Amino acid sequence: MDGKARVAVLVSGGGTNLQALIDAQRSGLIEKGEIVLVISNRESAFAIERAKKAGIETCVVTRKACGGQEGFEAKVMELIDSHDIDLVVLAGFLTILSAAFVRHYEHRIINIHPSLIPAFCGDGFYGIIPHQAALERGVKVTGATVHYVNEVADGGEIIAQKAVSVEDDDTPETLQRRVMEQAEWLILPVAVAKICRRIVKERS
Ligand code: GAR
Repeated sequence: MDGKARVAVLVSGGGTNLQALIDAQRSGLIEKGEIVLVISNRESAFAIERAKKAGIETCVVTRKACGGQEGFEAKVMELIDSHDIDLVVLAGFLTILSAAFVRHYEHRIINIHPSLIPAFCGDGFYGIIPHQAALERGVKVTGATVHYVNEVADGGEIIAQKAVSVEDDDTPETLQRRVMEQAEWLILPVAVAKICRRIVKERS
């Protein structure tokens, strides 16, 4: 054991949150954690390129290749366990994990969600959709939340939140970008750094 918590990041898309974590590791913010594995459920995820460029081991695991949800989760579990992962970060991982899966890793999986939970969250609220819903409702403030993952979609204990203003001329895309820049890319690395420090302290 080298004194660092071993982190796996699960992704599905562009991977800007993964990039924020890689940058935070490089800058020394995440001094007690190391991203050792990136798992994508989509072959085309650009996040995979970001991980490779940073020299991080990657793995693509699709439901199709695993014969469905059960095989998919079994494969992801096998990877997490064989890599001695302490903390699993869902960073734009746009697929639901079963209750059995999340219970198995209780308080070891965290997620970044692009709204201030409990607004605009739960089943069906992912990616651009929370921002569309926020604009439709006419809220003047939205933001992002980092939370532990439990069996309720976006229902686990809240770790960090940051508010972001909605501007009059926002589109879902401009709002999504501002929430990423002003909230997600800041609170996710800080939360990961904090949890890694705690994991390392607890085992010493
Ligand atoms: C991010 O906005 C993240 O908060 C969101 O997907 C985007 C992924 O972007 N996650 C969810 O909606 C989870 N419910 P990224 O791949 O560039 O990090």
